[in-house]
Amino acid sequence: MNEEQRLQGQQVKPFKPLQPVKEKDYSQFFQKTPSLKDAKKRGKEEIEYHADFKIDERFAEMGRGRKFYIRTYGCQMNEHDTEVMAGIFEQLGYEATDEVTEANVILMNTCAIRENAENKVFGELGHFKPLKLQNPDLLIGVCGCMSQEEAVVNKILKTYDQVDMVFGTHNIHRLPEILNEAYLSKETVIDVWSKEGDVIENLPKVRKGQTKAWVNIMYGCDKFCTYCIVPYTRGKERSRLPQDIIQEVRELAAAGYQEITLLGQNVNAYGKDLPDSSIGLGDLMDELRKIDIPRIRFTTSHPRDFDDYLIEVLAKKGNLVEHIHLPVQSGSSDMLKIMARKYTRESYLELVRKIRTAIPDVALTTDIIVGFPNETEEQFEETLSLYREVGFEMAFTYIYSPREGTPAAKMRDNVPAEVKKQRLHRLNEVVAEYSAKALKKLEGEIVEVLVEGESKRNDQVLAGYTRKNRLVNFVAPKEVIGQYVHVRITEAKTHSLAGEFVEVVSKTAEVK
Ligand code: SAH
Ligand code: SF4
Ligand code: F3S
Repeated sequence: MNEEQRLQGQQVKPFKPLQPVKEKDYSQFFQKTPSLKDAKKRGKEEIEYHADFKIDERFAEMGRGRKFYIRTYGCQMNEHDTEVMAGIFEQLGYEATDEVTEANVILMNTCAIRENAENKVFGELGHFKPLKLQNPDLLIGVCGCMSQEEAVVNKILKTYDQVDMVFGTHNIHRLPEILNEAYLSKETVIDVWSKEGDVIENLPKVRKGQTKAWVNIMYGCDKFCTYCIVPYTRGKERSRLPQDIIQEVRELAAAGYQEITLLGQNVNAYGKDLPDSSIGLGDLMDELRKIDIPRIRFTTSHPRDFDDYLIEVLAKKGNLVEHIHLPVQSGSSDMLKIMARKYTRESYLELVRKIRTAIPDVALTTDIIVGFPNETEEQFEETLSLYREVGFEMAFTYIYSPREGTPAAKMRDNVPAEVKKQRLHRLNEVVAEYSAKALKKLEGEIVEVLVEGESKRNDQVLAGYTRKNRLVNFVAPKEVIGQYVHVRITEAKTHSLAGEFVEVVSKTAEVK
């Protein structure tokens, strides 16, 4: 068979699907469509840890001669889930492709956080329809957070018959079985669990890049901020065991990775659900700090659970970077109350003071929502004044988007869309002002940059990040990609820095 034939899925001897493998424990969660009502429940049952993930031998030939393509939306959690699914695909014998037209399986790993994220996915699904006609072997799947929503699954079933399979965030380890069913079935295969599953260890992963790696430390969220869909789409908080996390970070360090980002929706709740609840994020960081890897970050931290011990450990620095992303959402205590964030403007500012006392050169960044239902002009201005008072280095800013099934979606809202847009614009001006100010201070300084690759805008320029997560662009030989270098900053832009390459760094240090 020549290369051309191999690329055409139709000419490859098709994998013969097998009768579905029944799994004893999971049937109780299996249902036709997801239920947000069930997803809201938080049971007391203990989480089990499984380290025995294995691809059924009978699926070993499934991907031979076939290619997969995954498009990822949303947060780092989704990016990392994509790495796991890519790992599973490769174990099944599929090859990765960046060309959607070459793919035999297309997966949309979706995000449900705001309406526009969802609209993009529906738009793309429409574009995929003609591909189905060209390639009868093509399977199209929707996974990720949108799949956990009833309304989305109903819409897909009604309007998007090009979709062959829908599965959620709790069962990506069942991808081989789901694919098998999709090859068998003429109907859309729906495999969405409304209740989280257990923690599955040793899933295969194909990581994007060899420099930075993501490591999950916990799954789910129990905070139920009134605007947010994540607790419904990701289930209850489940921490990985510390020894499994430490082991993974050690392995990544040994494999030459240069930076680790620990992931969780609310990493400060780490450990609270473990049988031995005496371990928290501070303890975990204190252990990870001893591993020989130059930088460790985490995201996202919730101000409420940010305890003194964690601050004490972070102040030891070393490989723990002095950058904390600490979403505040609003500067008004009244708004924070309605959002159920469970802290006030004052307690947030107090936390910032504590962090700054312990780590004077810390860089703080944040997330902010404007135009929450009935937000007044004064309340919005409190957000602006808090922003100035903290002097954040950067922020992700959003207009509130109602999410079906959340308490805020039922609130009446008297803020016109135009006012919300103006507020976002006004806030973004302050964000740009403070970002530019923080970066300006670095002009003439030498910073340490982990080089990630070519700049997205210009392949003659390299790009990387400092310990404080500032983007730096500079010209240097391509061999420095994946290494730490010193760069002299020549110009501060609004959201990035431009500089001149100085040298490769042999031992990283706590600088800028
Ligand atoms: N777990 C993280 C946030 C995850 S979502 C945390 O609690 O910090 C990332 C950001 O999206 C949130 O911080 C919030 O600013 C924004 N967001 C969440 N739900 C939203 C909604 N319904 N409308 C607009 N923005 C939202
Ligand atoms: Fe959403 Fe709040 Fe949980 Fe963050 S902490 S994921 S904003 S519910
Ligand atoms: Fe989106 Fe799900 Fe992440 S809703 S932000 S992909 S947890």
